[in-house]
Amino acid sequence: MHTYKNKQDYEKMLILLNGLLSGMQIYYQNLRGFHWNIKGEKFFELHEKFEEWYDDTAQKIDEVAERILMLDGTPLHDFAGYLEKSPVSPAKDISDARKSIEKVKDDLLTLLHLEREILDRASENNDEGTLAMISGYIGEHEKLLWMIKSFLT
Ligand SMILES: [Fe+2]
Repeated sequence: MHTYKNKQDYEKMLILLNGLLSGMQIYYQNLRGFHWNIKGEKFFELHEKFEEWYDDTAQKIDEVAERILMLDGTPLHDFAGYLEKSPVSPAKDISDARKSIEKVKDDLLTLLHLEREILDRASENNDEGTLAMISGYIGEHEKLLWMIKSFLT
């Protein structure tokens, strides 16, 4: 069930949400890679943090997919589709603490940009369910971004 009166707005929202789902899947996999490959003095600290962040992301991924279903859409569910639609680029062969955290920062900024667009459009279309979910994500991702910037300073 959805509140969209205009077909174009409705279809655009499904595209945006599938983009967010795809971006979060790649972000999730990036975090797993960092969790596995991190080396150096910050190993214990970051190995654990990356796990905390990907667990949190896995939960959000499920919520976004189920939100798409609530709007009568179909969540993307294959890796090829995720790679095609993700605004987040896949990370490869990063084991340096600073480089991995910098990539997390870039990914978060990309996700936040998309989340803000979804928030605006959900608000214009009285889509309260999507709005509530996304505004929570924005708050959490902004908090994480602040911590990451403090780490990098
Ligand atoms: Fe592990």
